[in-house]
Amino acid sequence: MRISNLLLSVALLGATATQAAVPVYLDDSKPLEERVEDALSRMTLREKINIIHAQSKFSAPGVPRLGISELWCTDGPMGVRPEVLWDEWEQASWTNDSCMAFPSLTALAATWNPEMAKLYGKSIGEEARYRNKAVLLGPGINIYRTPLNGRNFEYMGEDPFLAGKMAVDYVKGVQANGVAVCVKHFALNNNEINRHTSNPIVDDRTLYEIYLPAFKAAALEGGAWSFMGGYNLFRGEHASYNPILMNDILKGEWGWDGAVISDWGAVHETESAVKGGLDMEFGSWTNGLTNGVSNAYDNYWLANPYLNGIKEGKYSEDELNDKVRRVLRLTFRTTMNRNRPYGAMLSDEHIAACRNIGGEGVVLLKNQGDLLPINPAKVKKIAVIGENAIKMMTVGGGSSSLKAAYEITPLQGLKNRLGKEYEISYARGYVGDTTGEYNGVRTNQDLRDFRSKEELLADAVKTAKDADLVLFFGGLNKAPHNDAEDFDRTTMDLPYGQNELIDALAKANKNLVVVNISGTGVAMPWVNKVPAIVQAWYLGNETGNTLADILSGDVNPSGKLPYTYYTSLDQVGAHKLGAYPGTKTKDRFGNEMWDMPYNEGIYVGYRYIDKNKLKPNFPFGHGLSYTTYKYGKATVDKAVGAKGDKFTVSVPVTNTGKRAGSETVQLYISDLKSSVDRPVKELKGFSKVALQPGETKTVTFEIDEPALSFFDADKHAWVSEPGDFEALVGASSADIRSKVKFTVK
Ligand code: BGC
Repeated sequence: MRISNLLLSVALLGATATQAAVPVYLDDSKPLEERVEDALSRMTLREKINIIHAQSKFSAPGVPRLGISELWCTDGPMGVRPEVLWDEWEQASWTNDSCMAFPSLTALAATWNPEMAKLYGKSIGEEARYRNKAVLLGPGINIYRTPLNGRNFEYMGEDPFLAGKMAVDYVKGVQANGVAVCVKHFALNNNEINRHTSNPIVDDRTLYEIYLPAFKAAALEGGAWSFMGGYNLFRGEHASYNPILMNDILKGEWGWDGAVISDWGAVHETESAVKGGLDMEFGSWTNGLTNGVSNAYDNYWLANPYLNGIKEGKYSEDELNDKVRRVLRLTFRTTMNRNRPYGAMLSDEHIAACRNIGGEGVVLLKNQGDLLPINPAKVKKIAVIGENAIKMMTVGGGSSSLKAAYEITPLQGLKNRLGKEYEISYARGYVGDTTGEYNGVRTNQDLRDFRSKEELLADAVKTAKDADLVLFFGGLNKAPHNDAEDFDRTTMDLPYGQNELIDALAKANKNLVVVNISGTGVAMPWVNKVPAIVQAWYLGNETGNTLADILSGDVNPSGKLPYTYYTSLDQVGAHKLGAYPGTKTKDRFGNEMWDMPYNEGIYVGYRYIDKNKLKPNFPFGHGLSYTTYKYGKATVDKAVGAKGDKFTVSVPVTNTGKRAGSETVQLYISDLKSSVDRPVKELKGFSKVALQPGETKTVTFEIDEPALSFFDADKHAWVSEPGDFEALVGASSADIRSKVKFTVK
């Protein structure tokens, strides 16, 4: 070592001994708020401005001078997105960013099992951590208002209670890795059609009872560290900086201390963004680096235009400081948390998690004559039909598209599991989407097939006739208008002539199983002609293995629908009441806007079905098993209680079949007399119990005051009224097995 260096080292050692060497903001042992204030006090105005907007497609710069790290975000919500070019959406073609694609969030919701949500969050959080991401852009928890919404597969169904419970554990699982969730898209982002210009017109009661509770649960019970604003508007202002949603509700009423991140390209001007509670701007269009400015990101609405506004006295620095504090909190909680775990990619645990979550999410909708599980005593030859048996689905659908390390298709999965025992033949049946590319990520499958529709159909029918059992794999596929961001579906019908094909298959072979792969409900005009129907979702890398588990009977199905399976759009309030896609008008700047009155109000999903006494194809909460469950009598701990008391409802449930299985017992509450119109019943509890054959377990639910309350818009408060209530316990929203009344004095 040179003498001068040696002297320097000695001098530094001396310094550490006498001074507090670590500034407060870098000291993990100090309380978060102290660190935030310390960092804030050291930052220049320019540095404050810098950290509240992007420096690339998915990152913000931090404060290099102070060693405050960059903040990297990634999609979300079903796997960690491949790296993209600095300024572009196109993948960067790294060779080490292939990931685990987990099942779609509808599949997760269909497990009705918060333990699965925790496992999901933990696993995807580990992948994000391993890839050095601070913020995972998910979960998506917008309410399933219409089956046409192109992003339903990224969300958790129609019920605020179910979506909230599942979101909370997802959030906790992810954040245990020192990776923040970014809960999206707050709020009312319920359709993709006109997604930048939709202006939902929603009354307060509907907002608070249907569209906010899952977000509130994620923010407060889950402790989410960031939120993403939607592209849509609300009461004429963009959601990403909507003062009602962000300032009054999220940061005001809920007292939430996290950071609001814009959706990518959702910011349109500075003043509203500054005032409307937005903390970080991402994805705004710039001219890239081609228009001569040294850094195009300086042109962001929350960059130079904001800085200049502050210098001119138009905006106060206090407002900016609030945003900076939130970004600093986010940074200290994530990348600058030295104690966070290291993460993992594609571990055996993640592979198992993918398969287990998917297996618990698959829903057996119908199973006449016990066609499933496949019975070796009756079946020797299996005909597998349909494009979705061979199509890879992890690529496509928009920002949730992934570069999966591998993907087992249904046909591969079946061959792996059943290929030795059975003769398996395959026919395509129809040609749907053969592209297999998204932002430069390719499946490398060649799905082209130039036969005519008639030839494909004839071949499928012939293959079906020649088999003992037909497994049709169809549905949607994440192509535009078929479960994809930016495109709502144009109809509930299956595309590519699948209805005609299914009709023909049902005629050709009475032992037909339809496995519908989609993230949303589809019309099933053939529902009475097909003896067995399975709702499968996009199940990620392990799709084929997961479906083979279910069809072979290795796994007993236990998924339940997280949304109502309508017969047609006539059963959907949003459509029946003429409120979709709304009417074209102009916003306050004269730009196009689509007013979309939510005329159905709080009557979304089963609430609308119940009110109008409709019969959907399959009700919310429905799902069969290879065994059967008997519910005993529900009892309540006290018939009469005081306001604010908790009631406990118990019900014994017995597995009356020959296989072990898990049943999700659902609790709905009905307010028998109320001063306001209330839904016939609302989900207020659920519990998934594992039961061996012959085993009985007693399930208990605690009913608290919030479970009995409605939102009184005049008082702007949740209100519970004394009177009679009924607890309904059932296997679905339409299959109530036992009821018990109780009174609040
Ligand atoms: C989507 C978000 C996504 C973001 C970043 C947007 O188009 O709406 O959900 O997280 O892009 O990819």
